[in-house]
Amino acid sequence: MRRFKTEKDSDYFKIVDDAINAYTWAAIVKLQERKVIDDVLGAIGQGKEAKIILAKRGESYAVLKVFYPILIRFVKSRYGYILGDPRFRRLKISDQLHLVETWCRKEFGNLSRAYSAGVKTPKPYGFYRNVMAMEFVGIDKTPAPLLADVGLENLEDPDHVFYEVVKNLEKTYIFAGLVHSDLSPFNILYDGKDPWIIDWGSAVRRGHPKELEYLRRDVERVLEFFETPLPPEDLFKRLVERGAWRGSIDIDEEGWLLIGGKRILD
Ligand SMILES: Nc1ncnc2c1ncn2[C@@H]1O[C@H](COP(=O)(O)OP(=O)(O)O)[C@@H](O)[C@H]1O
Ligand SMILES: [Mg+2]
Repeated sequence: MRRFKTEKDSDYFKIVDDAINAYTWAAIVKLQERKVIDDVLGAIGQGKEAKIILAKRGESYAVLKVFYPILIRFVKSRYGYILGDPRFRRLKISDQLHLVETWCRKEFGNLSRAYSAGVKTPKPYGFYRNVMAMEFVGIDKTPAPLLADVGLENLEDPDHVFYEVVKNLEKTYIFAGLVHSDLSPFNILYDGKDPWIIDWGSAVRRGHPKELEYLRRDVERVLEFFETPLPPEDLFKRLVERGAWRGSIDIDEEGWLLIGGKRILD
């Protein structure tokens, strides 16, 4: 039986980490060459599987979302269980990198679709391999806080924020043909006035087998935060019904979708 040595394993992870860093830097340099961003300023956040980095873009800023290979993390966090398993040794680094590139491309595609549909979300600037660049939401170099961290009681105008979230939810479903699938106050930024929807990695196209399950969950999480008397099932049904509309759709002066001449909320 094969014996494993701890030093060897740490060497292995060091090499993998270095490879990922070199690979990520090359992608960032590519985005600079393409003039998507200018100087890189530094990390401003850490997500579950991605790092958020602030960069200059002309006179303004951009955010880089850098995806790290998930399997490496997986292997690390389960170090003890997995080191004896030779199957994990055979997974090539390039395969793992390929997985995050796919994820990055998917998230960028969803973000672009939502943005084009008029959803209030950071403007997509470009992506390369495992790095995507988008509009920075914040003041000076300080990112806007999450709605979850601000809290309902600290919103200046909670009704306004709620209505904006509902408008965006409806535009996502009806104009972009997407369900966000991870919508919650943890993926909504608050700029002091308006909500911004972020983190489109889990979004699915309408027609996906779990479309309605995900939509219902998104609606529930939003309504839970705003503590509205409106039952989630009610809003969910209205969205689904309106989503089936085949006629023309107008937008009124306040940005509400008019379907059959009616807003989703009266
Ligand atoms: N465009 C942006 N402008 C400002 N801050 C951002 C932006 N995008 C992400 N962030 C910050 O980075 C964090 C992680 O981003 P997110 O896309 O939600 O990643 P994850 O998939 O890891 O949850 C967010 O919670 C937010 O604080
Ligand atoms: Mg998130």
